[in-house]
Amino acid sequence: MKLFKDIYRNRSVLVTGSTGFKGSWLTLWLDKLGAKVHGYALEPDTEPSHFKILSLKHGQTFGDIRDHSHLDEVLRLTSPEIVFHLAAQPIVRKSFSDPLTTFETNVMGTVNVLESCRKCPKVRAVIHVSSDKCYENREWIWKYRENDRLGGHDPYSASKACSELVVSSYVKSFFPLEEYGKSHKILLASARAGNVIGGGDWAQDRLVPDIVKSITKNTSLLIRCPDSIRPWQHVLEPLSGYLMLGGKLLEGMKEFSGAWNFGPSSQGLTVLDILHKFQEHWNISYNISSTQVLESSILGIDSTKANTLLEWMPVLDIDNALDMTVEWFREFSSTSQALSLKQLEEYIELATVKQITWSR
Ligand SMILES: NC(=O)c1ccc[n+]([C@@H]2O[C@H](COP(=O)([O-])OP(=O)(O)OC[C@H]3O[C@@H](n4cnc5c(N)ncnc54)[C@H](O)[C@@H]3O)[C@@H](O)[C@H]2O)c1
Repeated sequence: MKLFKDIYRNRSVLVTGSTGFKGSWLTLWLDKLGAKVHGYALEPDTEPSHFKILSLKHGQTFGDIRDHSHLDEVLRLTSPEIVFHLAAQPIVRKSFSDPLTTFETNVMGTVNVLESCRKCPKVRAVIHVSSDKCYENREWIWKYRENDRLGGHDPYSASKACSELVVSSYVKSFFPLEEYGKSHKILLASARAGNVIGGGDWAQDRLVPDIVKSITKNTSLLIRCPDSIRPWQHVLEPLSGYLMLGGKLLEGMKEFSGAWNFGPSSQGLTVLDILHKFQEHWNISYNISSTQVLESSILGIDSTKANTLLEWMPVLDIDNALDMTVEWFREFSSTSQALSLKQLEEYIELATVKQITWSR
């Protein structure tokens, strides 16, 4: 079976944020595709940690993307052809308590990554991993499209919007499409996903990890923004989009440079909807927080561009995504075994049955 046209086999790939939730799943998938993966990230800061549990045998450097010279050195030594940039401070609540680290990491960290790529002769493609929160939130019912205005009230959202401006500035200033193959050979794209769920996420102040912690510790859960609607999706869904996009850039298809949304096909669910799904499997007691939270109440992301031009499609509906997540944590809580590889294989099998483009 030739997934993603086998473009990642023996390919040298750098993943920033490899120790995080999405980065560890992406590393697992790239490893399965036969890529030579090197990770760059801080040491895992959760216990348990999906990165540690997987204990893949790929190369890994623990470092800080704010340390530009270190990053330069790692790119020089590893010579990747493609870089997936996922490293970030991604937690909205933490961005209120530590805006400085959030902006330094998400904005200047992105500048550092792009600068190091610019100096590394082997790099031909960069995927910047962004978020649905980069759009100026208008609190309206419509989903955001790639050409909607960027913005963001909380520091995390604003930092992601800033990182988008950085990416667009690099495309225009250093990697202009009309000069591709002449004065430079890098194609750069930005991938904006929705709220991701799946096994192995233990980050603080995120709904699913908070639910799991309350189950394992048998404590009451504190719910913020119970009625907020978010575009929930399984972690493997946007990853399939990043891998498709990366493949196109590696093939030199410059029309795939730019911004891409990868969201679920269904309407979003509320925070309470997600909690109720978990309550079908576990007895969970919860309280609603009375503290006012400065987060948007409705957020949706429109993937028409990716569906049409990239032929990217989600494989799962929200019930499948939740079932997989529940199954992963149930297994882990009873046997300490991670179902990640098994679930990845099942996901690929389902994509093949559904004739999803990247699986053919
Ligand atoms: N999880 C989601 O729902 C979601 C949704 C949309 C976008 N995203 C984006 O996806 C990316 C990955 O998010 P995640 O959910 O895996 O987060 P995570 O917190 O699990 O992982 C973050 C990763 O970034 C690394 N990192 C943080 N600061 C760093 C620094 N200064 N130097 C080097 N590495 C650093 C961490 O070590 C970790 O590997 C982020 O860019 C995030 O903004 C996440």
